[in-house]
Amino acid sequence: MGFLGNTYPWVKAAHVIFVIFWMAGLFMLPRFYVYHHAAAPGSAEDRAWIERERRLRSIIINPAMLFVWIFGLMLAFDQDLWSIRWFQAKFATVFLLSGFHGWAVGYGKRMAAGHRAPSDKALRIMNEIPAIATAVVVILVIVRPF
Ligand code: HEM
Repeated sequence: MGFLGNTYPWVKAAHVIFVIFWMAGLFMLPRFYVYHHAAAPGSAEDRAWIERERRLRSIIINPAMLFVWIFGLMLAFDQDLWSIRWFQAKFATVFLLSGFHGWAVGYGKRMAAGHRAPSDKALRIMNEIPAIATAVVVILVIVRPF
């Protein structure tokens, strides 16, 4: 038994709860950008999307990501999973997902400053990334294919 002792399942539950909050926010944010893309910079609609995006970032996705990492690292150190293949693959996928989070937050700030991509097609593709990452991570932790 690791250093978490009997609290291990509680920490795992907290981990999964914050995973759900984080993913819910990451599904919403790029979808917001698709709608925001159509609003002219400086318009009332533009300002409304900027405020919605700011709140989603500061109230949901940034704190949720932090707690997912804290609880996830506690579980990983407790079980000493660092040399296990499925965990290494999960860690790499989650690392890339955190990079996507950083890109999405940065893109929202650029949109707030008036930037608009030439088309919203790339934004629609970006929308799929959190869904694909969720499927990969859940298969890795539950099925443990290797
Ligand atoms: C941020 C970095 C993360 C770390 C370091 C981490 C680490 C861990 C660890 C060590 C476990 C316990 C595995 C076990 O008890 O055998 C776990 C469980 C779990 N993680 Fe993560 N995780 C992270 C992010 C995520 C993300 C982003 C997702 C989903 C998209 C996720 C989904 C899950 C699920 C569903 C479980 C429960 C699996 C079970 O029933 O045993 N984790 N995580």
